[in-house]
Amino acid sequence: MRRKLAAGNWKMNGLLANMAEVQSLIAAFPAPQPVDILICPPATLLGAIAAQCRDSAIALGGQYCHTATAGAHTGDISAPMLKDAGADYVIVGHSERRADHGETNAQVRAQAEAALEAGLNPIICLGESEAERRAGHARAVVEAQLDASLPDQGAFVIAYEPIWAIGTGLVPELGDIAEIHDAMRANLAARYGADAAKSVPLLYGGSVKPTNAAEIFALENVDGALVGGASLKAQDFGPIITALAASDGA
Ligand code: 13P
Repeated sequence: MRRKLAAGNWKMNGLLANMAEVQSLIAAFPAPQPVDILICPPATLLGAIAAQCRDSAIALGGQYCHTATAGAHTGDISAPMLKDAGADYVIVGHSERRADHGETNAQVRAQAEAALEAGLNPIICLGESEAERRAGHARAVVEAQLDASLPDQGAFVIAYEPIWAIGTGLVPELGDIAEIHDAMRANLAARYGADAAKSVPLLYGGSVKPTNAAEIFALENVDGALVGGASLKAQDFGPIITALAASDGA
């Protein structure tokens, strides 16, 4: 059965000076923990944080990977490089990369396949825009992204992140989160079979805070969160992890 996952996406934030936050998390959540805990720092910090997190309950992930294993791609980073630096996960298809770098569903799928090939667990992100939500198309948009962004096989995580909820303090109604997560589980069951669908952790992301985490984690098909801003400080991320560990089924 799937484990719950509290994942922090540091985005383009973090210097060596911020490593004390990681140290605080390691101290607050000694191994073993009932839920998986993940930090996805900028690639520049992976090696240093990996050394800090060895034998701890904190796993590490990248924020993007190229589809190729190596080659003439200045500035890019490959899945085997992330693995080599100590990562076990990689975020692919984040809406900021889809927007800033024009990444398509097909590219996201190829990145997820490259991650799996390298022994990484891809966290595949999707979610509707504000206009799509307003037009009543959120579910259809997410299902289309699922169909086109997921690999045909392999162990992966999905993060539903409505674009309009990222970094805005806005969060969908709980019923709207539940509707999308239930639809994602049903979509996975139709494509991969009921048992395989049950093994996929479905994360919610977008303005998750200590104050709203517990009610989101209480939803049946929410298996954790992908947290941006609130993952940068242990005093914010810690209570979110605790809320997940306290949620039913963790
Ligand atoms: P915030 O938690 O800052 O809204 O960011 C969410 C996110 O994009 C995580 O990937």
